[in-house]
This record gives sequence, C-alpha cells and structure tokens, in this order.
Amino acid sequence: MLLGKKIILGISGSIAAYKSASLTRLLIKAGAEVQVLMTPSAQDFITPLTLSTLSKKAVFTEVSSESAWNNHVELGLWADAMVIAPATATTLAKLANGLCDNILAAAYLSARCPVFFAPAMDLDMWHHPATRSNVSRLQGYGNHLIPVGVGELASGLSGEGRMAEPEAIVAHLEQFFDQSKDLSGKKILLTAGPTYEPIDPVRFIGNRSSGKMGVALADAAARRGAIVTLILGPSKLSPAEQNVQVIRVETAQEMHDAALQAFATADAAILAAAVADYRPKTVATEKIKKKGEELQLDLIKNPDIAAELGQLKKTGQLLIGFALETNDEESNAQGKLERKNFDFIVLNSLRDAGAGFNHDTNKISILFKNNKRRDFELKSKNAVADDILQAMIDLFKYNNS
Ligand code: CTP
Repeated sequence: MLLGKKIILGISGSIAAYKSASLTRLLIKAGAEVQVLMTPSAQDFITPLTLSTLSKKAVFTEVSSESAWNNHVELGLWADAMVIAPATATTLAKLANGLCDNILAAAYLSARCPVFFAPAMDLDMWHHPATRSNVSRLQGYGNHLIPVGVGELASGLSGEGRMAEPEAIVAHLEQFFDQSKDLSGKKILLTAGPTYEPIDPVRFIGNRSSGKMGVALADAAARRGAIVTLILGPSKLSPAEQNVQVIRVETAQEMHDAALQAFATADAAILAAAVADYRPKTVATEKIKKKGEELQLDLIKNPDIAAELGQLKKTGQLLIGFALETNDEESNAQGKLERKNFDFIVLNSLRDAGAGFNHDTNKISILFKNNKRRDFELKSKNAVADDILQAMIDLFKYNNS
C-alpha cells in the first residue's frame, strides 16, 4: 500500500506530462507524500503551479535557484520510491549514461530507493536500438520499467510508446510495495561468485563467474524482507542492500564450511556459486618456477556443497540450485536436480545470447521435481532474481498448504 510512502515524481518533457497531474492526485489520494521534480522542458507542457497545488509541496525545477540549493542527495535518501513519468527518450539516455544536468537526473543518481520509469515517446523512437539499449541498461542497474501502452500517439501514428495510464502506474507501485515484504523473517542462504583454488602464492584456478546473479538474488531477497546470508567467492561486487550479511570466501572448502554452518538455521538455500570441482592436490609454498616444456598439476575433488546440503536438508527447508550448461541442457540439469536433492533448478544455457557470466541480463528456465518446466524471457538479472524468489515463495506456500 502507498499510505505514508514518500515518493519522488520526476517529470520530463513530453506531451504525456499532462497525465502527471492525475498521477500526482492519485498518489496523494492513496496516502503518499509526493515530491515533484521537473526538467526544464517538462515545464513547456505543464506548470509547476498545477503540480505544487496537487502535491501540496513546492515543486523543484532546478538543482539550485538564486537563493537555495535543492538538496538532491537528501531527496534521494528521503524517498521510498522514485517514479519518472513520463520518461522521455532524452531522459532515458541521460539516466542510462549517468549524465546529470538537471534536478531529476541528480536525484536519480542520488536515489537509494527503488526507481520506476514510465517511458513516453513515438513508436519509432521506442523501437530504436539506442532506446532499447538505454532501457535495458537502466533495468540492468535494477530500475523497474513500467511498460508502455499501445495506442494512438501524439504524432498521429499508432503503436507502442504511450505512457502507461496513471492508474496503471499506481497499481504497479502498489503491487511492488505489497509483495515487497513477502519473505519477511525467512532466513535465506546464498552462495555466489567463483571460487579460487590456489596453485602457489600467486596463481590459482578460477572461473569467469562475476557473482552478478547471486548478488542480485541477495538484494532482491533482502528487499522482500528476508534475513540474508551471502557467501561470496572472489567477486568485485557487493550487495546494495545494507542488511545482507556477506561472508567473503576464496576457496570451495571455505565456501563449503561457511555454507554448512549457515544452512543449519536457514529456511532456504539458493546455490548460485560457480564452485571449482577440483583443486590442486598440494599448494606450493613458493612461486612455481618455469622449467621443462610441460607442467603437471595433480587435482583432487572439492566437496560438492549442493550435494551435502541436499543430504542434510530437513522437512520444510528448500534447496535451489543452478545449472549453466553448454549442451544437453535439460538432461544435465535434470540429473543435477535429482542427484543433489534440489527442490528446483535454474537452468541457463551459454547458447542463449545475453545469458550467463558477466551479462546484466539472463534467460532462465526452472525445472521442478515433478518434471514441470517454466521458461522465462531474457530479462535483467534483477527481474530474474524476483522470478526465482517468486517460484521459491510459491513452493513455501505449497509445502505449508
Ligand atoms: N555446486 C556446489 N558445489 C560444488 C559444485 C556445484 O554447491 N562443488 C552447486 C552449484 O552452485 C550449482 C549446482 O551445484 O547450484 C550445479 O553446479 P554445476 O557446477 O553445474 O554442477 P556439477 O555437479 O559440478 O556438474 P558438472 O559436471 O556440470 O561440473
């Protein structure tokens, strides 16, 4: 619900800006506190006076005026959500690139709250590859797209590009805040990132995992109220949510020890880490010197964290795994689902463009125990994280029914 929620409404210059007046009114009616920010060109379409009357607050149109500096940093911290409606092609391009030449962009860059954007433009602008890429970049940063409508456009053309109706925008926000605490009190354990298996003091065996998917899952679970422990292999990333407990590890053995300990009290574990299956049998204490034409490294098996947790799993606990496959995707994933006693497994194929290591997007299928399969579209890793958590929540509900 929106009662008491603090919302920044950012308006950029589009004919759809006239709808921002009824959006402001609906938000106020729903009990929200609304701070309107306008770009200079938005004022060509609607006046600050109209919006300040409706929002019962002064509207900010500049970072600073002659007498005052409108503190966008404070605004960014104040808000529970920021909604940019209408978001024009120019504003999307600025935000996607971190350009900051107006109060809306400054507040966006300072915002720590979820950000929603409702684009408005002509259909060709909407379909242009530059716009597509700006939209997916913004989603990749964790912002939420409020889908455009289809219909008659200001240009006289008809098609995709209309700003969502104010009622639809409010419904989107309400749904977000309603579902946002549906993991309240649940303890979720996550493994993420690669592992590094030392060869000598300077070298290791590693892999290309960035940790993005696991960190997105940790943030999404924390946003939904979960108590999250993230066991993170060597990754440059950190969760954005302050209340995620991060345990940084290097090796599979360290990840194993931390995971076993945390699993004892967890309601669910999601294993997104790319764990090295083998490690060097011995670790040289000095740097290995270059000798002969060949070098033999003896490897021994690492513990299979997932399989061990699968054995330890108690009634009521959920165990969710990942499979990143290059071939025979379904049968490989199905095999892992059974061997490791997962409740479901998230399959991504390296054959899908935009899926896998280091991308901001992912394309997944979920395979369940009863041979059921759900395929999802290519989405930002944040949106994928919410799909995975939703499948987990549905299972929690099913097990308790
Ligand atoms: N996993 C794990 N510990 C390991 C290996 C894998 O916890 N030592 C988990 C991964 O985090 C993932 C799932 O098991 O959730 C499948 O990982 P994958 O590497 O695909 O499985 P393997 O059993 O190592 O299979 P493969 O033969 O394809 O390497």
